[in-house]
Amino acid sequence: MTAPNTANPTPPAPAWADAELANPHAHAEKAGKVRGMFTAIAGSYDINNRLHSLWQDVRWRNFAVRQAQVNTGETVLDVACGTGDLTQAFARTAAAKVTGLDFTPAMLDHARIKQQALRPEVSAKVTYIEGDAMALPLPDASVDVVSIAFGIRNVSDSMRALREFARVLRPGGRLVILEFERPRNPLVRWFNDFYCGQIMPRTATLISGDKSGAYKYLPKSVATYVSREQMLKNLSEVGLSGGTAWSLSLGICTCYRATKAR
Ligand SMILES: C[S@@+](CC[C@H](N)C(=O)[O-])C[C@H]1O[C@@H](n2cnc3c(N)ncnc32)[C@H](O)[C@@H]1O
Repeated sequence: MTAPNTANPTPPAPAWADAELANPHAHAEKAGKVRGMFTAIAGSYDINNRLHSLWQDVRWRNFAVRQAQVNTGETVLDVACGTGDLTQAFARTAAAKVTGLDFTPAMLDHARIKQQALRPEVSAKVTYIEGDAMALPLPDASVDVVSIAFGIRNVSDSMRALREFARVLRPGGRLVILEFERPRNPLVRWFNDFYCGQIMPRTATLISGDKSGAYKYLPKSVATYVSREQMLKNLSEVGLSGGTAWSLSLGICTCYRATKAR
């Protein structure tokens, strides 16, 4: 029997083969691959976000919170909460209860560590749970706001998730979504494609020490995701009305809001 070679362990295989990245959304094993990637990058996720967005990600989440128009005592569900930045931003509003849900335990571990640094009255509002955006463990009409930041693109079946969001919202409840988009202005689009396709995957991979290929997946998954027009149609198809989209930071990021009819 040969002794295992512990000195040179085989590095984990990348989550995606290059050919699969032509359209990662079509892959039958997308969920497992996505979970694997976020497990691999959880520890450096926040610093990479801040650096590579030049701290704009904080501004985008604050914008989404404002669009949610949280009233005193309301409940918020932050789906695909990751390390909890948007969950925390909601906990600083007049909301009474904020639940962050994600299917990657490693991301939730970081969210819970960050929760310990919150003021006690803010922290007391927050609960993190493991769960799937496509099968929310919540009753019908039980929350006032559902949010999802940079998560809907990562879910295997985004229509199924949107239906779940509509199901758990109370009449009058709001859904807010943040998602990346390729800018429409040709010059900005060229620069953004170059930055996201050539620079960011290298620098983010260096910072995270990632072997999963998460930062190669990111620009491909944005380029092949549904258009803004399609997303607005999808929102209305699941029964949410008043779908609105705002372009942020020259169209790099889009914030959507839609409402469940009273
Ligand atoms: C790009 S991160 C976004 C994290 C956070 N919302 C933020 O603003 O930084 C995407 C997150 O989506 C989660 N995710 C992907 N598919 C999911 C699903 N079906 N159910 C729950 N979480 C999911 C991943 O685990 C990951 O934490």
